[in-house]
Amino acid sequence: MSGTHRILALNYSQTGQLQRILDSICAPLCTNSSIEIVRVNIRPARPYPFPWPILPFFDVFPETVGEVAVPFTLDWPDGAPECEADFDLVLLAYQPWFLSVAQPMMSFLKSRDAQRLLAGRRVITIIGCRNMWLMAQERMKVHLSRLDAHLIDNIVLTDSAHSMLTFFSTPLWMLTGRKGPWLGGQIPEAGISDTDIKDASRFGHAIESGLEKRTPDDLHPMLDGTGAITINERLIDSEKFGKRSFILWGALLRFLGRPGSFFRRSVLLFYILFLITIIVTLVPLFALLKLATRPFFRKRAASQRAYYAAPTGEGRERIDAFGLVSETDGQALAPAASGQDHPCAQPDRDQQGNTI
Ligand SMILES: Cc1cc2nc3c(=O)[nH]c(=O)nc-3n(C[C@H](O)[C@H](O)[C@H](O)COP(=O)(O)O)c2cc1C
Repeated sequence: MSGTHRILALNYSQTGQLQRILDSICAPLCTNSSIEIVRVNIRPARPYPFPWPILPFFDVFPETVGEVAVPFTLDWPDGAPECEADFDLVLLAYQPWFLSVAQPMMSFLKSRDAQRLLAGRRVITIIGCRNMWLMAQERMKVHLSRLDAHLIDNIVLTDSAHSMLTFFSTPLWMLTGRKGPWLGGQIPEAGISDTDIKDASRFGHAIESGLEKRTPDDLHPMLDGTGAITINERLIDSEKFGKRSFILWGALLRFLGRPGSFFRRSVLLFYILFLITIIVTLVPLFALLKLATRPFFRKRAASQRAYYAAPTGEGRERIDAFGLVSETDGQALAPAASGQDHPCAQPDRDQQGNTI
């Protein structure tokens, strides 16, 4: 390895879930003296509410799907301008909102900051979400390519509960601020499990090893074989269909008025009912149909999986090389991997980005 490697890690997180994932990934990197890691939060000028009132939650969808940028600032550590130069690698941590890149990260992607910070750089995207991220990542790829950045890997952590259960648990979490469990455990706790978050530290180890072995112009994945991606092929068609519907309705709602306007919200209410009906009828139907016709479309499914899993792929053969915290006694790696008490963990922040 030659000299110091500089990594920029950019993130926006409402509940702190994505921040904890990033903390866990960064933990092994922070303790390596040859690696300098700069953590930067995206801070929207107008904070989003949490928990979300129901109408603002849905009212954010037309602008999110339409990729309308909002004003934001970047929280550089101590405001240091020299931080902005010469990164060897950029970690972009984001969540999908309505099958699209969430508005804070999209606003960054459309900014001059992104042009300056991403052009010519190797980028690893990190997604923490319910389970529907494919269409968002398609748009992320388009924007990274426009910015002349090189996407070398993607890490995706999802809620491991069944899709039909997370369809209830995630909105309940977003709308009440409580993760559950609900109905005496019939609806499980929402969100990505602590174990999965702790085990994400293996990606940090793999990045550390990749940086040590590779030259800066090597654009091959560093995280292949680490279990960074799992494609749920039953959701592919639902995502494609859902995204098309969002684009159409989103354009109509934006045409009808600005966010919060009475007329737009009335049509929005109708759309919410339409959406719920589609999700409880068509989505399971699509999934069943996909299951039933699976034997006839194995080749197509395999090529779809390979496409959406690229560039990292779904391999798991190198997981043991980097270790799972959950499979050790948890002691040796626990402080770093817990995502809380290690050298570069970020303090919890409120919606204004202030430390709490
Ligand atoms: C407005 C909104 C829309 C969302 N849409 C999706 C989605 O399309 N797919 C998905 O898997 N998760 C979706 N989620 C869940 C988020 O991806 C994420 O898991 C959750 O907001 C917690 O992330 P954070 O606290 O780190 O910001 C949505 C959340 C919000 C607030």
